[in-house]
Amino acid sequence: MTSAHPLAGKQLPRHVGIIMDGNGRWANAQGLPREVGHERGADSVRTVVRAARKLGIDALTLFAFSSQNWDRPPHEVYHLMALLRRYLIEERAEILDNDIRLVTVGETHRLPSSVREPMMELIEMSAQNTSMVLCLALSYGGREMITDAVRKICRAVTAGSLEVDAIDTDVVSSYIESSRILPPLDLLIRTSGEHRISNFFLWEAAYAELFFTETLWPDFAREHLLEALEDYSRRERRFGLTSAQAKSDDADVDADADADAAAEAAGEAGEVA
Ligand code: IPE
Ligand code: IPE
Ligand code: MG
Repeated sequence: MTSAHPLAGKQLPRHVGIIMDGNGRWANAQGLPREVGHERGADSVRTVVRAARKLGIDALTLFAFSSQNWDRPPHEVYHLMALLRRYLIEERAEILDNDIRLVTVGETHRLPSSVREPMMELIEMSAQNTSMVLCLALSYGGREMITDAVRKICRAVTAGSLEVDAIDTDVVSSYIESSRILPPLDLLIRTSGEHRISNFFLWEAAYAELFFTETLWPDFAREHLLEALEDYSRRERRFGLTSAQAKSDDADVDADADADAAAEAAGEAGEVA
């Protein structure tokens, strides 16, 4: 490899999530059945996984099938499941050869065994890989995941292993499946010109940078990923702090100190009142 990294020295996201949308409209525009759009979409998945790996992204989550997508016409759901199976089998060598670890988020127990089997196999075979995590969001719904976390938290409280007053955002996070296996979401990309989250990473997207593109998913290629990353590299992530704080290398330390000072001040105000 002699070519320099196209984003050398720039701020890169560790974890990129993509809402891969627009397969149906892409096919429609060519007078083709929606299924062909999904097949071309699978080609984009291959391209983008390869590009992300080469660019040094730590984790890539692809929203491939939502909890709500089960309500699409049965033949479309059937075709999507067949395509998923084919992807998991055909990409196995490429994923393993490139030291990529496959994980999933979502209600994967709802998937047919024809998908679950090659999926579990590849998860297991790739478990020790460390160059990039590829996470497929399958039968995934952000509200469903939060609801599942609430249920588990209630169970822990009922069982006496968790105090109600101990529940803070870190505790809730620990019950959200994605945060156990993935770094925080830095960049969320949605294709096809829609400006919504459609029940994807609701909890995780709290401080993610958002990037929307008109490009339909089957047309999304390496250059579009680079464009999103280039845009991300110019963002200033402040996490609620001032720009000056965010720029300072000690931003975290400052934030802690400021939070302590603010809490102290608030306490004093409380005492006076
Ligand atoms: C995204 O493309 C793929 C899935 C949601 C499975 P769509 O199938 O939603 O395509 P459009 O939005 O109808 O164009
Ligand atoms: C979101 O796209 C789900 C996936 C990309 C897998 P949809 O096409 O299902 O979302 P809506 O219906 O446009 O909100
Ligand atoms: Mg869509």
